[in-house]
Amino acid sequence: MLIRNAIPDDVPLIRALEQQTETAAHWSAREYDALFSPEAPARVALTAADEDDNSQLHGFIIARCGIDEWEIENVVVAEHQRRHGLGAALAGKLLEQARAGGVTSVLLEVRESNLAARRLYEKLGFSEIGRRRDYYREPPEDALILKISISVL
Ligand SMILES: CC(C)(COP(=O)(O)OP(=O)(O)OC[C@H]1O[C@@H](n2cnc3c(N)ncnc32)[C@H](O)[C@@H]1OP(=O)(O)O)[C@@H](O)C(=O)NCCC(=O)NCCS
Repeated sequence: MLIRNAIPDDVPLIRALEQQTETAAHWSAREYDALFSPEAPARVALTAADEDDNSQLHGFIIARCGIDEWEIENVVVAEHQRRHGLGAALAGKLLEQARAGGVTSVLLEVRESNLAARRLYEKLGFSEIGRRRDYYREPPEDALILKISISVL
């Protein structure tokens, strides 16, 4: 398994994985295509793929990149690959890149009921810094805001 920067050819596989995943953040095709547009906000997208078969994507993570702070916008691991450390590997690699880029903190929003994602982030050292009431729709639910200071890594 190889964790690498996403390439434009990955977009259909990323979209397919996202669409199969109820708790993922759902984006339009245009938003995914904008990942590689120079005019779009800066983002990092990493994928977990088979080393010798680009047609198999097992997970991805996408973050929006500010100068001092990055925001994780989506992370998905294929259902059959979960609980093998892939989510932690993707998020860990993203945190490594953020630290290398001089970023001081990384944050994200997560559904309160999404215990798998919350445990993953807690394990990586994120802590809860706030809550957005009724932030999500279908079903309505609060978002927890989690943050990690890169200096504690
Ligand atoms: C959240 C998600 C990315 C985790 O990926 P993963 O590859 O299964 O995670 P890992 O195997 O790296 O797990 C790392 C740690 O997270 C926690 N964790 C992961 N899944 C968990 C679960 N179902 N229940 C409880 N804890 C869980 C554990 O602490 C785990 O460490 P451990 O296996 O040593 O106990 C995956 O469940 C997923 O794709 N979910 C659907 C998409 C989603 O909800 N994304 C988040 C949107 S904000």
